[in-house]
Amino acid sequence: MSKVLRKPAEFRQACEDARAAQRHVGLVPTMGALHDGHFSLIDEAKSRADFIALTLFVNPLQFAPGEDLTRYPRTFESDLAGCRERGVDVVFAPEPGAMYSPEFQTGVSVKGISEPLEGGFRPSHFDGVTTVVTKLFNLAGPCIAMFGRKDYQQWKVLSRMALDLDMPIEVVGCPIIREDDGLALSSRNRYLSTSDRTRALGIVAGLRQAFDAWEHGEREPDVLRSLAEEPVRGAFDRLDYVAAVDPETLAAPSPSPRRILIAVAAHLGTTRLIDNVVLGEDARP
Ligand code: PAJ
Repeated sequence: MSKVLRKPAEFRQACEDARAAQRHVGLVPTMGALHDGHFSLIDEAKSRADFIALTLFVNPLQFAPGEDLTRYPRTFESDLAGCRERGVDVVFAPEPGAMYSPEFQTGVSVKGISEPLEGGFRPSHFDGVTTVVTKLFNLAGPCIAMFGRKDYQQWKVLSRMALDLDMPIEVVGCPIIREDDGLALSSRNRYLSTSDRTRALGIVAGLRQAFDAWEHGEREPDVLRSLAEEPVRGAFDRLDYVAAVDPETLAAPSPSPRRILIAVAAHLGTTRLIDNVVLGEDARP
């Protein structure tokens, strides 16, 4: 039976009590509107920890003015049912005021790796993510924390932050969960009309084109990038980026790379989708 906690102090206490009872805390930070991608993080947490804490908080700090903060889907009752079904121990769902007092004036910021890709198009986004996740890490205490590689750069930024700031947190990146036709699950997919849902497959087609070329021996980042871009450009209204970069540094790949990250962000009407594949590592999307 998942317990719902609204107050940060209660959440801290619950995690402390779990550790005192020799349980290993597995943390799954989310913004809710849970789907099988989130549920896969719960399953992974359960395989590595035995006290599962899921946080559910639409973090205003990581949305820029004009982004989808107000219309971000909020489906608390079904999220809670999903957590209960999967044996989550506590659901921490604070009100914004409980996380950010009117006097709040602190931020956590990772440089370098947060600057390309998403950082170029959503300039304050990662500062919002690193600040809220620091608060969640501080409340949860020593634990193993699950993130999806769907938000590949977010996972890398948070791994960097935990290392740089000596946080007692093991940060894990879990595989992308996709629909049968390849579209990566996302809380934002529910914004898509039927025809846009079909057009969204342009991203999958692009990732597959790069993947197949890589499998046939293509190693030139520019060629792989263009192959990925072509179907996205054909299907989407606007493209933020299609990049072929080193999966660790997110900078230009070394000559004869063993792995390349192909990362895409593009718009269909008012919906922005992101996806990626690590060539040389991931299965075909
Ligand atoms: P949210 O978008 O709700 O995602 C929560 C976690 O689920 C993230 O780690 C994300 O990468 C993962 N996830 C989403 N879709 C996935 C998929 N199809 N396959 C695998 N994992 C998937 O990311 C955030 O929330 C926020 O930025 C947060 C980290 C909670 C900070 O506010």
